[in-house]
Amino acid sequence: MRFPLYAALFSSLAVAAQCGFQQQCSKLASKLKIENATVWFAEYVAAGTNLSFPDAHPTCSPGPLTVGVDFCRVALYVATSSRSGISMEAWLPRNWTGRFLSTGNGGLNGCLSYDDMAYTVELGFSTVGANNGHNGTSGTPFLNNPDVVEDFGWRSVHTNVVVGKEISREFYGKKHTKSYYLGCSTGGRQGFKSAQSFPDDFDGIVAGAPALDFNNLNSWSGHFYLLTGAPGSPTYLTPEQWTAVHADIMAQCDGIDGYVDGIIEDPSLCHYRPESLICPSTNATNSGTCITGTQASTVRAVFSDLYGENGTLVYPRMQPGSELLGTPYIYYSGNPFQYSADWFRYAVYNNPDWDPATLGPADYAASDALNPADIRTWSGDLSAARERGAKILHWHGLQDQIITSDNSPRYYAHVARTMGLPPRELDEFYRFFRISGLGHCTGGPGAVFVGQARDHVASLEPEQNVLMAVVRWVEQGKAPETILGTAFVNGTASGGEVAFRRRHCRYPLRNVYTGQGNPKEPGSWKCVV
Ligand SMILES: *[C@@H]1O[C@H](CO)[C@@H](O)[C@H](O)[C@H]1NC(C)=O
Ligand SMILES: *[C@@H]1O[C@H](CO)[C@@H](O)[C@H](O)[C@H]1NC(C)=O
Ligand SMILES: *[C@@H]1O[C@H](CO)[C@@H](O)[C@H](O)[C@H]1NC(C)=O
Ligand SMILES: *[C@@H]1O[C@H](CO)[C@@H](O)[C@H](O)[C@H]1NC(C)=O
Ligand SMILES: *[C@@H]1O[C@H](CO)[C@@H](O)[C@H](O)[C@H]1NC(C)=O
Ligand SMILES: *[C@@H]1O[C@H](CO)[C@@H](O)[C@H](O)[C@H]1NC(C)=O
Ligand SMILES: *[C@@H]1O[C@H](CO)[C@@H](O)[C@H](O)[C@H]1NC(C)=O
Repeated sequence: MRFPLYAALFSSLAVAAQCGFQQQCSKLASKLKIENATVWFAEYVAAGTNLSFPDAHPTCSPGPLTVGVDFCRVALYVATSSRSGISMEAWLPRNWTGRFLSTGNGGLNGCLSYDDMAYTVELGFSTVGANNGHNGTSGTPFLNNPDVVEDFGWRSVHTNVVVGKEISREFYGKKHTKSYYLGCSTGGRQGFKSAQSFPDDFDGIVAGAPALDFNNLNSWSGHFYLLTGAPGSPTYLTPEQWTAVHADIMAQCDGIDGYVDGIIEDPSLCHYRPESLICPSTNATNSGTCITGTQASTVRAVFSDLYGENGTLVYPRMQPGSELLGTPYIYYSGNPFQYSADWFRYAVYNNPDWDPATLGPADYAASDALNPADIRTWSGDLSAARERGAKILHWHGLQDQIITSDNSPRYYAHVARTMGLPPRELDEFYRFFRISGLGHCTGGPGAVFVGQARDHVASLEPEQNVLMAVVRWVEQGKAPETILGTAFVNGTASGGEVAFRRRHCRYPLRNVYTGQGNPKEPGSWKCVV
């Protein structure tokens, strides 16, 4: 049992007893002796400062943000080899809980997650973020530099954590009490990479929408362009037609959970059939919302598992329901998907001229066999994390338009089989929550505010906040049974008006409407086997 309030009190007394927080911060730069590191600056940031990031790569474009607490901001560069290195920052709050936290990254990007850093420094964590070994959202820095890929695969987060813990200890004069991780997408993958390969790094991990089985994910996300072809191709569907497909999916599957509200509680039960959308033969024009047989084949393929050479599974199907989310119809836009194209060009083939229109089963096999920097992140053995007492909270939005949520139960089952543990025993250290109506990490029509990001917080109560849930699990041994999500009117907490709340179930349970009571109330739903 920990007493974070006492820890905060003692640490602030310790700080006050010295020369004051502000001066201690400015002294930190010269005090730090970290191997291979160059400290750029250490500066005091007062609560309410409008912080902007002029040094950030333009494609990262972090907006200016205002942090609600006083903290010491440290920025440094740490060489990871003779031809690679990470840019990282540590944000050290005046009112420290004694906890340490690392944030992650997204996509192929080399951008610090400043919003996540602001979120967690405000909660009293000494927080670190790094640039994943390169700057900007493009994959070009991977070209002919396997060390940069190595940073991206695992070394940036691990180095950031090792160095960050040292900075935190130096600053506060004592070691942190517990160490945490928060990330989504590539950040979710980084969380699982830590659990699989660096189990000592964290006591508690929150991993959202993880980009697991990363090589195959890039094959899958690249293959949509080959399914649709360019706009105007016979295989391509217009946005209007995708809107019709979405409505048809809802007509077939929305009621399976007992209530029709535009949210499918368990898409794994939805086996969508698009054929009734095919245009009547008396009216063969497909300019409207009906589709041709060829287009119906495209839709079928989108919602079918992808197989490669020799019939091996590459990646599970896109889950039905997410068609309208994201930069409209991102995978169905008739353009190559940038992350997939960049990954093949710069990390797999080292050939900027590689054409994403040629992607096929031989490429799927080649990239997974190469597995650059062991980025796959598919080990089903989490026993080292389990043995040290770490807790893992895995969540995935069920309208994820970028990383199909069908992949998360696949990983969960893989862990169960690899470790030979039934869900009841996995529950002791690893829990997976499916968040209905949630897109990729944030957004969507469901009760999607679960504390996964600074702008998706309805409450700091552990019942309603994935980060505080893992903190309570680690520090008090009380594991989350469900996650209570909130939907706000207009999708934003700033209006403050709650549209509805719903409890998200722990896998393998699924959520159903009881048929009684107001469906906007969580008590009208239950988790069933
Ligand atoms: C913060 O500064 C930026 C310019 O760096 C400005 O555009 C923005 O309006 C400022 N925000 C606030 C809340 O003052
Ligand atoms: C510092 O860099 C050198 C050369 O790249 C490397 O061999 C060494 O392991 C690094 N030290 C640390 C603590 O990372
Ligand atoms: C310090 O943080 C604790 C929670 O960690 C909070 O209860 C308290 O109000 C904070 N104090 C200040 C002065 O911000
Ligand atoms: C990334 O940007 C930072 C800040 O502008 C710079 O110091 C660093 O050298 C850059 N890193 C790389 C790998 O280009
Ligand atoms: C033919 O189908 C299109 C698209 O569904 C529709 O807009 C149009 O009214 C139909 N025409 C006739 C004659 O039914
Ligand atoms: C498919 O089978 C062939 C012949 O046995 C083998 O060479 C190849 O590696 C297999 N491909 C995959 C992806 O397993
Ligand atoms: C939601 O948006 C509508 C239309 O813009 C606006 O009139 C209403 O005030 C908003 N409500 C809230 C709670 O934000």
